[in-house]
Amino acid sequence: MTVGIERLAVYVPGYALPLGELARARGVPPEKMTQGLGVESMAIAPPCEDVVTMAASAGARLLRAARVDPETIGMLLVATETGVDNAKPVAIFVHELLGVGRRCRVYELKHACYAGTAALMTAADWVRAGGGKRRRALVIAADIARYALGSPGEPTQGAGAVAMLVGPEPKALVVDAETATYADNVYDFWRPIGRREALVDGKYSVECYLEALGGTFTAYRAGEQPLLGPGEALSDRLARLLYHTPFPKMAMKAHRRLVEIDWRAAPARWAEVGPVLEEVTAASYRTAVAPGLEAVARVGNTYTASLYLCLASLLEAEGAALAGRRLGLFSYGSGCCAEFFTGTVPADATAVADAGVEEMLRRRTVIDVAEYERLARASEAGGEPPPGFTGEFVLHGIRNDRREYGRARAALAA
Ligand code: HMG
Repeated sequence: MTVGIERLAVYVPGYALPLGELARARGVPPEKMTQGLGVESMAIAPPCEDVVTMAASAGARLLRAARVDPETIGMLLVATETGVDNAKPVAIFVHELLGVGRRCRVYELKHACYAGTAALMTAADWVRAGGGKRRRALVIAADIARYALGSPGEPTQGAGAVAMLVGPEPKALVVDAETATYADNVYDFWRPIGRREALVDGKYSVECYLEALGGTFTAYRAGEQPLLGPGEALSDRLARLLYHTPFPKMAMKAHRRLVEIDWRAAPARWAEVGPVLEEVTAASYRTAVAPGLEAVARVGNTYTASLYLCLASLLEAEGAALAGRRLGLFSYGSGCCAEFFTGTVPADATAVADAGVEEMLRRRTVIDVAEYERLARASEAGGEPPPGFTGEFVLHGIRNDRREYGRARAALAA
């Protein structure tokens, strides 16, 4: 049965901090952030915005664009590691804000950045098994990446949400059933209950990511092996490769590792390719990876949403050219769990390629470091939306330990 992503929509907070300015304020050469990490700017959420309002804004954009009646959604999954309550799921607030019907399975998923893929795979399996009875699943990945001010992780923050309609008529990506997973209990990145900012063993987290990539890709390739000739690399068969991207340089490191594993497993060509591996990797990075990094370089890490922001931005830019072509996707969540899977861009992808990424990024207000620090300290306090707010929903405040949400005034007027 054909199953996949019918359509995507993106929401990114309306405020952007250029990383060159952050570098200057922290006394670091700007090139360390812009070239060393590959980040241009990062999205900052104002105090009236949390993961619920971001997820609902992406979901509302999606339902409107796809002309889907919220009553017809049979499963609503929200993947996040920025949860707002230890028991009450983000998904149930979103369920109310979007007006989804009561005959719906609703829950939140958590496994660091991997949860977005966990939700997509759960929804795809549900559709394949016929659980939806012709109803579709709405999957939303949303997060605010926060590290302590002045810490090494600070330039790898960001915020955003991606909503995906999962069903039997995929017009954005047909998701292949064959996937490969990898899991290991590691302390590379974590956020103990009660802490707002994540703790991270940064360099170790990069190693864990690459180890998990090797584990999933080796397993996936072993399954694919009979389809490949002895002198073929799987990466050559994939038109684009998308990686979970905490910062763009991580995708570059990941691609280097993947290409090496891939060619080493093709012994008939390894003697020829091995000595020029750096050139082979650099060339395929330019064509297969760089096009998917445009948006993440301007948004930063969006944890669960990161891989899907890459997908949305790639389809928006190249959906028509990629029609009928296969993509490889690697998802990593600290802690850790990872998955490598593939999907094909359908022939009519052009009709749904507009996920709203460019439009969202164009409308952003550029802020300085003082404003960023003010917003970071006040985050999730609730209140009136500041000038330039682009969200559809706001967090009014938290009273008696209860979060109160409503529609943004601009959205009400629209
Ligand atoms: P750091 O100590 O700031 O940076 O930490 P560095 O000293 O390693 O430098 C970074 C790069 O800049 C290096 O390049 C330097 O050479 C280069 P590399 O050697 O790696 O290719 N550099 C320069 N380049 C140009 N001009 C210069 C210059 N100076 C240095 N003047 C680190 C970097 C990523 C560790 C830090 O930012 C951090 O801890 N980030 C958070 C953790 C993270 O993002 N980990 C990624 C893998 S884990 C993951 O993806 C999961 C995650 O998304 C969470 C989840 O699953 O929920 C994080």
